[in-house]
Amino acid sequence: MELNNQINKDHEKRFLNFQKESGIYGTSEAIQQIFDTIEQVAPSDISVLINGESGTGKELVAKEIHRRSRRANNPLIIVNCGAIPEGIIESELFGHEKGAFTGAVGVRKGFFETADRGTIFLDEIGEMPLSAQVKILRILEGKEFTRVGSSVAKRTNVRVIAATNKSLEQEVQNGNFRQDLFFRLRAITIELPPLRSRKEDIPLLVDKFSQNYCKDNRINFAGFDETAITGMQNYPWAGNIRELKNLVESMIILEKGRKIDEQVLAKYLNTFDQGTRNLPIPVNRPTDQVEREFIYRALIDLKNEISQLRELILTRVFPPKRLKSWEGADATVFSHEDAHVVYDDVSAEAKPIVSIPGMEKKLIEETLSRFSGNKRKAALSLKISERTLYRKIKEYKLPF
Ligand SMILES: Nc1ncnc2c1ncn2[C@@H]1O[C@H](COP(=O)(O)OP(=O)(O)OP(=O)(O)O)[C@@H](O)[C@H]1O
Ligand SMILES: [Mg+2]
Repeated sequence: MELNNQINKDHEKRFLNFQKESGIYGTSEAIQQIFDTIEQVAPSDISVLINGESGTGKELVAKEIHRRSRRANNPLIIVNCGAIPEGIIESELFGHEKGAFTGAVGVRKGFFETADRGTIFLDEIGEMPLSAQVKILRILEGKEFTRVGSSVAKRTNVRVIAATNKSLEQEVQNGNFRQDLFFRLRAITIELPPLRSRKEDIPLLVDKFSQNYCKDNRINFAGFDETAITGMQNYPWAGNIRELKNLVESMIILEKGRKIDEQVLAKYLNTFDQGTRNLPIPVNRPTDQVEREFIYRALIDLKNEISQLRELILTRVFPPKRLKSWEGADATVFSHEDAHVVYDDVSAEAKPIVSIPGMEKKLIEETLSRFSGNKRKAALSLKISERTLYRKIKEYKLPF
């Protein structure tokens, strides 16, 4: 009995320490199991697959595995596979030799080479093209790869952590993901459940997020009352912990540190809840809330109109033009440079005050903010592929 107590106490202490060091907070059974798995697998070189919806903490887990590994003093290279255009992904991952393709003016080390003796985190691995998947399997099996344009095999000593918000099993069935790579990766799988299925974590998360935010910004905050916490526990959190964190921080700042109860919370949840915009305006709400909803609806309509207008202009006024092949199969057929060229031919007085790229940039920025930086949802709403969205974020240097 004594011994058991001691073991439990030690475990508890390590779990508390883990939360503090990793920033992965929670009290649920799920989080405790995740801690146990991380503690077990981190010191070895075994590959890990992290599965979970957007905003559930996949990147945090990957970082913690690296931090607790023997490789912690060597690099952790984070690669967002969904953000790299398909045509250049292999040269980004495995490097290229001089002259391997047009534009390859020098030799370039790939991420796998840079990560030597460290860890590579392949985020959104479900987006990886099949041709690159074969090469990753080869590295996992024999630690060997070749740079694009070379036939000389090179070696690298890299630990692979992969993450996805898709069901890779489904992707295998659809022919988009290699079964052998899936089998290799799934040996150790960490499932991060959506926040809605571990509501008991919410009070602690809210506490940590508000404490940190108030400390960093020197805000005196009166806190959340119990009704607000219950309200948050009953909300579905499609954007998971990221959405919760954003909401907590915006409420604290917009409410100027005042106490937040159920009513205040409802105001914010309704404003951000996409589903409410098609519902009739409720009459039993305070006027400022109704006004806010009106403005919000008007902005959404305006956004849709701008989007339609943009499509109309792009398809009718400017003829589609082919992009360079590396910009990827799903790249839009129109790039912002094209728009500038066309506008330069137009007489000064006919020049629009806002440019198409300007409008596009703003639209993308607004959509990303609306979805709290969730790229998948923003891309879906903008009706562009996630890869195109990443390209545009980079192109416009947006802070997302
Ligand atoms: N258990 C947790 N405790 C505290 N903060 C967390 C926890 N899980 C996630 N977060 C925070 O939520 C945000 C999203 O986490 P993260 O980027 O790791 O999610 P993700 O699963 O990689 O999302 P995506 O699929 O959109 O890339 C980050 O700000 C992170 O610090
Ligand atoms: Mg992530």
